[in-house]
Amino acid sequence: MASVTPVILILGAGSNIGQHVARAFAAKGYKVAATARRLRESDSTADQLNIPGDLFDPNSVVDAFSKVKSSLGIPSVVVYNASAVTPNPPNDPFALPLADFSRDLTINTTSVFVAAQQAAEGFAQLPDSASRTFIYTGNICNTMVIPPLMDLGVGKSATAHIIQAAAGAYKDREFKFYYGDERKADGSPAYSAIDGEAHAKFYLELAKGKTQGPWQQTFVKGVGYTQF
Ligand SMILES: NC(=O)c1ccc[n+]([C@@H]2O[C@H](COP(=O)([O-])OP(=O)(O)OC[C@H]3O[C@@H](n4cnc5c(N)ncnc54)[C@H](OP(=O)(O)O)[C@@H]3O)[C@@H](O)[C@H]2O)c1
Repeated sequence: MASVTPVILILGAGSNIGQHVARAFAAKGYKVAATARRLRESDSTADQLNIPGDLFDPNSVVDAFSKVKSSLGIPSVVVYNASAVTPNPPNDPFALPLADFSRDLTINTTSVFVAAQQAAEGFAQLPDSASRTFIYTGNICNTMVIPPLMDLGVGKSATAHIIQAAAGAYKDREFKFYYGDERKADGSPAYSAIDGEAHAKFYLELAKGKTQGPWQQTFVKGVGYTQF
């Protein structure tokens, strides 16, 4: 039987993590689909299908999956990389307007739930040999309060819970769900020093793995998975 070219869908793909992940998976023979608000479909190339969309609308996730399926096939790797934050006064988290809290929670969590739901539905139709891996780009906020970034922490924490639940629930079917979190070697957050290339290399390893590893994948550039 002819082998089927694997497909990766990157939701929220920009110039750092998104682009590096796209390049690294394309180099391994994946067809790539990428979504972001500023991507234009007309700029799609032979290597990458661009799907413009705003993850503030969870329906855009369903639309992206349906476009990818009809153009490239069912994605066996899905990376959710977008995030949103509205800083609040560090000593007054409740000064944050509800509209901002609600928008950011939709992007950081609700649309991720829809993406994981769509991914699992697709994984169930793929052969056992397919990667069937879902990776959410997280940060330290699910385990640490950073006072001015409350709504980011709420979203990352809620999604960490979704990932942990899915990792356990789908383990026997060999669907893998991961929360990726780059740290410095001492365990502190990478913050603005996050490295797109290191993410790409690490995400390739996660996609290659046959069975579910620890759902919370804290990793250090040049080292890999490191438990803190
Ligand atoms: N481990 C750490 O310490 C750490 C530190 C910083 C960040 N992070 C995480 O890293 C991820 C981002 O990394 P990056 O900036 O390097 O990635 P990137 O791939 O360079 O950029 C992410 C892209 O997501 C897109 N996006 C944002 N909001 C969106 C929306 N509502 N709908 C659709 N697309 C949207 C943006 O493109 P458009 O503007 O075109 O939509 C943006 O370019 C986030 O999840 C963030 O929380 C982790």
